Parts: sequence; C-alpha cells; structure tokens
Amino acid sequence: MIPVIEKRTLVKTAVFLQACRREETAYTPIWLMRQAGRYMPEYQAIRAQYGMLEVMQTPELAAEVTLQPINAFGLDAAIIFSDILPPLIGMGLDLEFVKGEGPLIHNPVTSTADIERLRTPSAAEHMQPTLDAIRLAAAELTPRGIPLIGFCGAPFTLASYAIEGGGSKNYAKTKALMYTEPAAWDQLMRKLATVQADYLLAQVEAGASALQAFDSWAGLALGVKDYVKYIQPYNKLLFEKAAQAGAPTINFSTGTAAYLGEVAACGGDVIGVDWRLPLDVAWAKIGYDRAIQGNLDPVALLTPWPVLKEKVDDVLARANGRAGHIFNLGHGIFPNVPVDNVRRLVDYVHEATG
Ligand code: CP3
Repeated sequence: MIPVIEKRTLVKTAVFLQACRREETAYTPIWLMRQAGRYMPEYQAIRAQYGMLEVMQTPELAAEVTLQPINAFGLDAAIIFSDILPPLIGMGLDLEFVKGEGPLIHNPVTSTADIERLRTPSAAEHMQPTLDAIRLAAAELTPRGIPLIGFCGAPFTLASYAIEGGGSKNYAKTKALMYTEPAAWDQLMRKLATVQADYLLAQVEAGASALQAFDSWAGLALGVKDYVKYIQPYNKLLFEKAAQAGAPTINFSTGTAAYLGEVAACGGDVIGVDWRLPLDVAWAKIGYDRAIQGNLDPVALLTPWPVLKEKVDDVLARANGRAGHIFNLGHGIFPNVPVDNVRRLVDYVHEATG
C-alpha cells in the first residue's frame, strides 16, 4: 500500500486541488456531483446485480463504481461512491434504499428520548467499508494524479432525513422539533456534527485529498434568521473540525442564494453554489477569499449541444478566469442525461479554458 504522505505529494499539483487553494491553473477543473450513477450503463450493470447498500458496503464494488466516470471522461476529481445517509445506520437508524423511491428510515426520530438514544460511533467502528473503498480507489487514482473527494451530509440535511424518515416537501416535522424543543435540537445537531466530523477526518486518513459537506436541503427549508440560529453553529463546528485534516473543504448547499454570506461564514475553502444566482453574483456575495464550485443548471445536460454550450460559456464568462473556480453542476446529475453530453461538457470546459 502507498503511504498516505506520499499519496498527498503525488496528487498535490492536481488542478482541482490548485483551484481549491485559489492558485492559478492550466485550465478550469471539472467534476460533477453524482458523477457515478444511473446515467452510466456501467453503473446500471453493477446495480442490476447488487443493491444500493450492498454496493456501498462492499469496498471492491464501491471503488469500482467510483472509478467508472473517471475512466469514461477526463474528470479532474473522483468522489468516493457512497451516500450521505449510511452514517445514520451506525447512529441507530434503520435505513433502506427503496427501489424507484429513494431512502427510507424505518425508525425515524420522533422524541427527545430517541435523540438521547442515538449513538455517536467513531468512523472506524461503523464506516469501515467506505474507508476501505477509499484506500482501494486512492491506490488506483494516485498514480494517475487524480484526487479523491471524501464527503458527508451536513447536520441539518441529515437531521431532516432522521426526523422525516425520508425525503420531504416542507420539512414540517423537522422544523416543529427545531422550534419547540431547542435543547433536543441542539443535542441532535451536535451528535450529527460530531459523527460527521470524525468521519471526514477518517476519510482523509484513508486517502481522500479533499472533503465536501452536502447541506442539500438547508436552503429549501429555512430562511436566513433560522439558518443562523439553528444551522450555522453546527456547520461551523463541522468545518472547524474538518479543517484539522489539512485537506481543502467544500461547503455545498442549495437554495441559499438569499444568504450565501451566512453560508460562507460557516467555513469551507470552497463554497459550492446552485444555479439560482449567476456565478459572478454568487462569488461577489461569498467574497473572493474563497474558491467557488458550480454552477451549471443540471437540466442543461438534457438540452442539445448549442443550448448546453451557451450555458457553459455563460458560467465560464462569469468566472472570468479568476483563480479558484471549479466547474460543476448546481446540483446532482440527472439519471436520464446522455453520456455523450457529459463527455462533451468535460472536454469543452478543458478546451475553452486551457
Ligand atoms: O456524487 C457521487 O457520485 C457520489 C455518490 C453520492 C450519492 N449520493 C449516490 C447515490 C453522493 C455524494 C450522494 C449524496 C446524497 N444522497 C445527497 C446530497 C446531494 C444531493 O444530491 O443533494 C442526498 C440528499 C442523498 C440522499 C439520496 N440518496 C436520495 C434522495 C436518493 C434517491 C434519489 C435518487 O437520486 O435516486 C439517493 C440514492 C442515491 N445516492 C443514488 C446514487 C447513485 C441512486 C441509487 C440507485 O438507484 O442506484
């Protein structure tokens, strides 16, 4: 096995990591959220044989799926194949991925007693298969100079799944608990931040070169005052601890255009933004002391090339060659995206900026 220190030196000059550090790059790096997934026939072939949790919990399969988009396209970073929800299993929740529907938690958190009962295991205790998958994937990627991104869900997004038991339209149960039981909310968010921070540190130890926290639902659920009161302290805790890993951190959220400054105040070397604000407007709100990741509308990948190209050109024009732009979508890639559009997008971003 390659020692971790040597791994870091090998990928240190990768354009993706340079952009995270806001250094000048030879071209704009690109990776795509959910880049390993159902739009790829190679992924579908694996999923035809194995369940979602089975793929994530079998290191060889998770590593293989992680590499699929890297082998198919000239992407500048890989992201370890897992999901934000498996760490909830170790905390005591019974998670299932229901075919065609998405995640379901059979024993959601409904009371303060449930919150008290939630365990806070170390990553080594409950996420070992993913840490092993990171070791396997990094061993393949490092000689190719491609960094591997580790990730976790941010506390609010995980709390919403833990409380609602699955996806939600209005987050009513989550917000009811948040508003009426502040002490229980504090305990829940602290437990989630602690478990996720430990998991992030362990991922870097296993070979990840950068870390992303997904706060996918925060902005869809809460206005700025609630965000500052009920989310910000715990995201700060998460990013403060994650910074100890010495790897760049990416703070991604959606629906937070109205309060990107407050999002950035939580921490993160890179702020991941959705498509709701033009990239230049978002960057000005965040501040140029941070790198930015985004922000092509994922729907653009379903349109013919001339339409797609115009939207890509717009993102690049707004980044205007400023050091610290990582090209990505504003949210995850859709399952019905044509593979050729992904190839064309990746090649075009490199050609147009190189
Ligand atoms: O980006 C990657 O390629 C790494 C893998 C990854 C997955 N999920 C794989 C996955 C990552 C980083 C995630 C994050 C995730 N998961 C988020 C945050 C990011 C976001 O998109 O907002 C959230 C909210 C989840 C929860 C989740 N997982 C949902 C709501 C669903 C069902 C909806 C859907 O897209 O199918 C999943 C399942 C899931 N996670 C799939 C994949 C590839 C599809 C599983 C399958 O049927 O093969």
